[in-house]
Amino acid sequence: MKIDILTLFPEMYNGFLNTSIIKSALNKKIVDIKTTNIRDYSLDKHKKVDDTPYGGGSGMVLMCQPIFDAVKSLKKTNSKVILMTPQGIKYNQKIAYNLSKEEHLILVCGHYEGFDERIRSICDMELSIGDYVLTGGELPSMVITDSVVRLLDGVIDEGSHLNDSFNNDRLDYPTYTKPREYEGMKVPDVLLSGDHKKIDDWRREESEKRTSERRPDLMYKYLLIRSTMSGKLSYSEFKGYSTNPKNNAKRTDVISVKRLKITEPALSKIIAKKNVDKKIQQLLVLMMKVLETESTDDDFLVLDEADRLRSLIMNEYAKALGIEYRNSALKKIDYIVKMFNSKRVYSKEEIIEKTGKSR
Ligand SMILES: C[S@@+](CC[C@H](N)C(=O)[O-])C[C@H]1O[C@@H](n2cnc3c(N)ncnc32)[C@H](O)[C@@H]1O
Repeated sequence: MKIDILTLFPEMYNGFLNTSIIKSALNKKIVDIKTTNIRDYSLDKHKKVDDTPYGGGSGMVLMCQPIFDAVKSLKKTNSKVILMTPQGIKYNQKIAYNLSKEEHLILVCGHYEGFDERIRSICDMELSIGDYVLTGGELPSMVITDSVVRLLDGVIDEGSHLNDSFNNDRLDYPTYTKPREYEGMKVPDVLLSGDHKKIDDWRREESEKRTSERRPDLMYKYLLIRSTMSGKLSYSEFKGYSTNPKNNAKRTDVISVKRLKITEPALSKIIAKKNVDKKIQQLLVLMMKVLETESTDDDFLVLDEADRLRSLIMNEYAKALGIEYRNSALKKIDYIVKMFNSKRVYSKEEIIEKTGKSR
């Protein structure tokens, strides 16, 4: 594979190309990586590469000519020209795998305010390494080069990247090395058992567990399909956090749905917390109402509601809430029940008679 990097700052790559795995891939001639200074292609007598933006505004914009000419001189029939831009497709491991199958990549790095819009016309792809803005495309081009090169045959042990995070939409399993115990933390027994079947099973389970806890969005997707024939919407069942949709938005671009599943963990947490807080408030109001009456006939309503809420939190909300918030919600319910019981004193028989359960 060959990678050409078009940049205004080739010196930034000195450490990157002369260290560790990238250096060894270059030495083994598995990959050939060249940096080209865009300035070398400028036809301007002062080697100017940028100018002020038409229409005014701050910053300098990279001009077409040097980049068009640099790409033209490097490009072959098998080349893929990729522009580094925060407006591109978000880079991920799948893209890295696809790029590792290419023969020649030309990575174009912008700098300053950006580049002339017409430069997009000579690029086959635009990539962003994340939703933030860097001063230039140099770091993104290193990120892409690094992640692609380590996937090339012979660069690292194949086994090491087969289990890497994001391969098969899973995060990697936990790993340990010597010593067996460190500051009271022990290596799981199964890893010392020598039983490879058991070790593989444990690793697979841990990888699934970890992914569903930290990145459920990798495992489960939500899908709503509108049929092009009938215009009808259909819903595909995927794992996620269910919530009741509010179908009262008065906007023409909003559709009403019967069921909603959220796969984004942060959003699930916010909604689950809101729901649980509301239900705890309702329990508190119910308790106050029941306590206002002299009779103990409706007491079971409060105790049953507390039980129902506890099991709802444990069974339905626990995953979305996270351990810390789940425990604090359960504590609040226990506190309400304790408060309630302290106002009422029953005999055991009375409780069983009213609720059918012993408390
Ligand atoms: C300061 S940025 C220009 C950002 C531009 N004004 C915009 O908002 O799209 C300068 C250059 O850094 C590179 N760059 C910055 N952030 C990037 C990102 N997240 N992914 C890829 N390239 C990025 C691009 O090559 C970009 O042209």
